[in-house]
Amino acid sequence: MLNEAKSFVKTMYRELNYNEDSISKRIYQIEKQINATGTYEHTNEELIYGAKMAWRNSNRCIGRAFWDALTVNDARHIQTENEFIDAIESHIQIATNKGKIKPYITIFSSHHPPQIFNNQLIRYAGYEDVGDPAERKVTQLAEYLGWESKHTHFDILPLIYQMPGDKLKFHNYNPELIKEVPITHEQFPKLKELGLKWYAVPIISSMDLKIGGVTYPTAPFNGWYMVNEIAVRNFTDSYRYNLLETIAEAFEFDTLKNNSFNKDRTLVELNYAVYHSFKNEGVSMVDHLTASKQFERFEKNEQKHGRIVTGKWSWLAPPLSPTLVSNYHHGYKNEIRDPNFFYKKQSSTTGCPFH
Ligand code: ARG
Repeated sequence: MLNEAKSFVKTMYRELNYNEDSISKRIYQIEKQINATGTYEHTNEELIYGAKMAWRNSNRCIGRAFWDALTVNDARHIQTENEFIDAIESHIQIATNKGKIKPYITIFSSHHPPQIFNNQLIRYAGYEDVGDPAERKVTQLAEYLGWESKHTHFDILPLIYQMPGDKLKFHNYNPELIKEVPITHEQFPKLKELGLKWYAVPIISSMDLKIGGVTYPTAPFNGWYMVNEIAVRNFTDSYRYNLLETIAEAFEFDTLKNNSFNKDRTLVELNYAVYHSFKNEGVSMVDHLTASKQFERFEKNEQKHGRIVTGKWSWLAPPLSPTLVSNYHHGYKNEIRDPNFFYKKQSSTTGCPFH
């Protein structure tokens, strides 16, 4: 822990132009704390900058140009259930920001955090026959806890959580808090009849945030959507909503034979529909060509500061027309830097207690 703390403090303090003397002092303090208690407390400034660095180091993320604009809510002091629910709901409200989405993270205590069992704070339930198949396990857990579903394609899952020493519970959000966008296409009016929609803000709640050797197991964070995440993956992957044929029918494409290129055409028009539906509702969203341009700007800027951009190519190349963007055409070093976000290891203590 001390080594990781040292390396984090040196990197951060040098980036922020602190002198070497204050770095040594801070490291001495940390060393004393670790020796006495087995861990150390980040200052508010370290927490904020550490979270920003974690975003900057997220190899899968194409949106990193905005890393420095992350708003950090230091919620480490929160202990009661009411405060916890309030912090989660105000995260949703502040991040949604009436559609002008703010990148935001809420960081709970590293020692005795409330636990969240959802993959994202807002997500649609999945059942055998309808909904999002990616959420079947969480949906079963919610139902086991007594949550009553409507059994539609788009039921907002409740928050599933556990306060330290307490039992698992669920909380239904006030529906007014959750912004959703109905999907339409002005040239293909039948699309609207499918009743597709998606929620505005993707708030990942299933990853650990690690800063300088300290793990924050509950630190939900969000940016805004890149259109392909919804249109190419969530709606179209065969193991998700699997809607390619349904949507092609609504577009009245008469064949999906490979050499008709209508599968591809369906994807393009669906991306157009999702993007403009979001924009018409005043909800932030980025298209893949713009996101890739922003990523190039990020790469240049990092280079200017003498930092190497690490990345995971298979995630940075967008799933629609990847060759149209520059990052398709070169490689990335997929080295994992600290601070960062990590998928949780499923174990008997941190995993879903139901499964
Ligand atoms: N791909 C995930 C989804 O479709 C969201 C991941 C985070 N995306 C983001 N733009 N911040 O829900």
